Amino acid sequence: MDLKSLIRDIPDFPKPGILFRDITTLLRDPVGLRYTIDFFTQKCTEAELKVDYVVGMESRGFIFGSPLAYKLGSGFIPIRKKGKLPAAVHAIEYELEYGTDCLEVHQDALHPGSRVLIVDDLIATGGTASATAKLLQKIGCELVGFGFIIELRDLQGRKHLPDVPIISLVEY
Ligand code: PRP
Ligand code: ADE
Ligand code: MG
Repeated sequence: MDLKSLIRDIPDFPKPGILFRDITTLLRDPVGLRYTIDFFTQKCTEAELKVDYVVGMESRGFIFGSPLAYKLGSGFIPIRKKGKLPAAVHAIEYELEYGTDCLEVHQDALHPGSRVLIVDDLIATGGTASATAKLLQKIGCELVGFGFIIELRDLQGRKHLPDVPIISLVEY
């Protein structure tokens, strides 16, 4: 199935010069949505990843991460932006194009040795995924891989990620 035909390109969003890859058109397509989750699951299974938890980053990482966790028979752990999680958290600050942001995970969600797969809709510069990896490694988790629906190859985000399998379904 041609997933690119279901992903909408919006020029100059959220600012001039950015070509936004919009997954909402893929999500609203019943056949496309099912195919995406099934194909994602198949790629993870073929890679023989042993996953205790899928970790997904707010917000678009939640959309794909939780059905993938369901299919893999693992748990799902949300990584949230600052101030959203109610219990004690581990946090990491990371660089954005302008300024910094902060990601958090519940302290009791993961433990040293937990085998985690980091999932997001898209990797661009790799800033979000690499900050998440650092946060999980600080806890002592075993990072088994990364999964993305979309990879923007020109931005070379994977250069910033640790040396584990990186799965992406669609490349631009
Ligand atoms: C987008 C996307 C990834 C991230 C990729 O999220 O969903 O999480 O950017 O960019 P990077 O590789 O340069 O870090 P965004 O922060 O826009 O928020 P959202 O998921 O809440 O829409
Ligand atoms: N997040 C970062 N860059 C993006 C892009 N070009 N399209 C959609 N989401 C993004
Ligand atoms: Mg995101």
